[in-house]
Amino acid sequence: MGAAGVTAVILAGGQGTRLRPLTLSRPKPIVPLLNVPFLAYQLDLLRRHGVDDVVLSCSYMVDDVRGAMGDGRAWGVRLRYAVEDQPLGTAGGVRNAADLVSERVIVLNGDVLTDADLSAMQRFHAERGAAATIYLTRVPDPRAFGLVDLLPSGHVHRFLEKPGPDQITTDTINAGVYILDRTLLERIPPGRAMSIEREFFPGLLADGIRFYGWVGEHYWLDIGNAEKYRQGQLDLLSGRVRTGVQPDGWRDGIALGDGAVIEPGAQIQPPAVVGPTCRLAADSRVGPHVVLGAGCSVAARAVVEGSVLWDGVQVGEGAVLRDCIVASGASIAPRAQVRPGAVVAAGAVVAGAPVLS
Ligand code: GDD
Ligand code: MG
Repeated sequence: MGAAGVTAVILAGGQGTRLRPLTLSRPKPIVPLLNVPFLAYQLDLLRRHGVDDVVLSCSYMVDDVRGAMGDGRAWGVRLRYAVEDQPLGTAGGVRNAADLVSERVIVLNGDVLTDADLSAMQRFHAERGAAATIYLTRVPDPRAFGLVDLLPSGHVHRFLEKPGPDQITTDTINAGVYILDRTLLERIPPGRAMSIEREFFPGLLADGIRFYGWVGEHYWLDIGNAEKYRQGQLDLLSGRVRTGVQPDGWRDGIALGDGAVIEPGAQIQPPAVVGPTCRLAADSRVGPHVVLGAGCSVAARAVVEGSVLWDGVQVGEGAVLRDCIVASGASIAPRAQVRPGAVVAAGAVVAGAPVLS
């Protein structure tokens, strides 16, 4: 469907603290998923639902975000930037983009990987005559999210950000995707920090604004910590997320980047993405469920599975990496073991097992 008069605002100004140390070298909106910057998945989703006018609301490491995403043309959208001198919070970030938006705004948290049917959500919003609609999803533990109680009519009854253990009345949470009529943005004062979850939404309820929840049964994940960031990629590799974004050279569960060298006897087990100019030595094994960035090298007899390696990672002979994340330029010594859940910072050196004589 067409979506004239709709602008998307992507909130991409957080510091990504729960994704450190990865976000020390790369801001969260552009951490790579299958070697593609995260925001590309959101732009693809928006475009597939007819929204091609997008504003990125950013404050942290803006130049890096701009460098990776440019004017959005590569993803078929027009991308503009609303930059905050000081972080303005999630509502302030939307307000700061207000001059660039048309009648209706779709707001996305810039760390949500989803294939939500935004066309159906927009129809729901229009049919109800809503002023605001939030996409809701269900999670086993709502404490890290915004808890949303709905009335049987679909109206939002209560919005409670980061509920305490004794405040959990439902498993339905804010999925970080909103449709807002533009006039509501006037409720956000310009130039000061304000939270959409803690102030703006409770304010809509207090003032009796037509505010609905739309419960979607779609893939949904907040990639904002290391385990979820890795999980999102495993899910993409297994085809669990409907997306038009594919790594270069993807075929039969394996993507081989240009100039990658696979020596005889090296094994790649699908699903796996091997970035350009990687080198896999004889008797090494990569996969299943692995992403190698550009220019990684995996030495003889090394094993990498369930793991995400950024660019230029060196894996020494006989090293074993399982279910871990290794940022750019790190080096893993021969025979070292990198355990499940480990996150190795950019440029770090992981020592090998001591040689016992
Ligand atoms: N422009 C701008 N300015 N963006 C910001 C700012 C800011 O000051 N602060 C945070 N953001 C962006 C972040 O970059 C992120 O994309 C989004 O706002 C949400 O911030 P998070 O820090 O990731 O919030 P959260 O995950 O704890 O909680 C939010 O998302 C949950 C769903 O994943 C809330 O919206 C919850 O209610 C929700 O359930
Ligand atoms: Mg988040």
